Amino acid sequence: MSRRVIGVVMNGVTGRMGYRQHLVRSILAIREQGGLPLGDGEVLWPEPILVGRSAHKLKELADRHGLDHWTTSLDEALAHPLAEIYFDAQVTTARESAIRAAIAAGKHVYTEKPTAESLASALELARLAREAGLCNGAVQDKLFLPGLLKLKRLVDSGFFGRILSVRGEFGYWVFEGTWQSAQRPSWNYRAEDGGGMILDMFPHWRYVLDGIVAPVRSVYAHTATHIPRRVDEQGRTYAATADDAAYGIFELEGGVTAQINSSWAVRVDRDELVEFQVDGTHGSAVAGLRNCRIQHRGSTPKPVWNPDLPATEQFRSQWQQVPDNEEFDNGFKAQWELFLRHVTTGSPYQWDLLEGAKGVQLAELGLQSAREGRRLDVPELSL
Ligand SMILES: NC(=O)c1ccc[n+]([C@@H]2O[C@H](COP(=O)([O-])OP(=O)(O)OC[C@H]3O[C@@H](n4cnc5c(N)ncnc54)[C@H](O)[C@@H]3O)[C@@H](O)[C@H]2O)c1
Repeated sequence: MSRRVIGVVMNGVTGRMGYRQHLVRSILAIREQGGLPLGDGEVLWPEPILVGRSAHKLKELADRHGLDHWTTSLDEALAHPLAEIYFDAQVTTARESAIRAAIAAGKHVYTEKPTAESLASALELARLAREAGLCNGAVQDKLFLPGLLKLKRLVDSGFFGRILSVRGEFGYWVFEGTWQSAQRPSWNYRAEDGGGMILDMFPHWRYVLDGIVAPVRSVYAHTATHIPRRVDEQGRTYAATADDAAYGIFELEGGVTAQINSSWAVRVDRDELVEFQVDGTHGSAVAGLRNCRIQHRGSTPKPVWNPDLPATEQFRSQWQQVPDNEEFDNGFKAQWELFLRHVTTGSPYQWDLLEGAKGVQLAELGLQSAREGRRLDVPELSL
């Protein structure tokens, strides 16, 4: 068995996503399982090269996990002899310039979403990577989650008949920072720092709708900043300049209507923090991150509207859980493995920077729609 080492420059690993999902649960998890088998007895061994702004945080992190390579200089990291891939999980505003540097240094690029702050920049990054002949990918983790994989399985099997509508509900209460500390970084609530619900979540909704149901053709969005003042990590009060809720309606190809509420100012009365209900002529499903329940037309009850009588039916008990029928790995890790195989073996990989740009496009059009109070078409993108 031969081992092929591949250096992965990882930027933003002191952050929530960079550390937990990408470093620990993906790259280090791949090492813990003995590497990634590539076939023909070869195993890929990802070697993280940590890069960030704070030397002491990087050193502490490297020591904690027994890692040898870290630096506060992006140029130095990109020039590392092992470096083949650049990965970015920094705050969104820092992303574009770092990816440009990585492409200029000839590194394959994998990045968190949104891939850039504007559609023009996102397309430019996709074009630059393609012209340089570099592999490139954008994180689309929700597609690899058990609940949504089961939903996709149902769509592919024809379970729904004709799909009519999708209703998505995402959100939870993010504390204001006053009487309890906030559980998300404060930049998310400042537009000038790349924050905002639409920029954060519409990239996800784009690939979820496109990839599981049908391509998004138009968007209408209404936004709100329900909590206008919050308290940051240092205990300072700041003005929340970004949208903390977005109420979106999307028309999909084939006449499907999708409506998704996204809010950080809502209390959860759901089984999971995000749920999508898909209704079709032959059946319906409600998918969350892990679970997916269905109701076939043959088992659909016939409720009769009568406000004079208490509800007698236990509607929630009339659904059936979709079994796993397979083992599901961590969604981030599953996508990392596909990207690493793509880079090293040339296997196909569809979630590239152009797909990432589609998410930025939907966010940009969503914000414009909210500003102008009108529905906007979502044109096809090409490089
Ligand atoms: N795929 C997902 O489900 C998902 C979920 C949350 C966030 N994200 C994305 O991941 C990225 C990081 O989000 P996070 O929640 O981990 O954020 P975070 O604030 O926890 O981490 C941000 C990281 O960027 C670094 N950074 C670089 N320049 C910075 C600057 N000028 N100011 C502040 N930090 C700077 C920080 O040191 C830190 O390592 C964002 O682009 C976000 O959109 C994706």
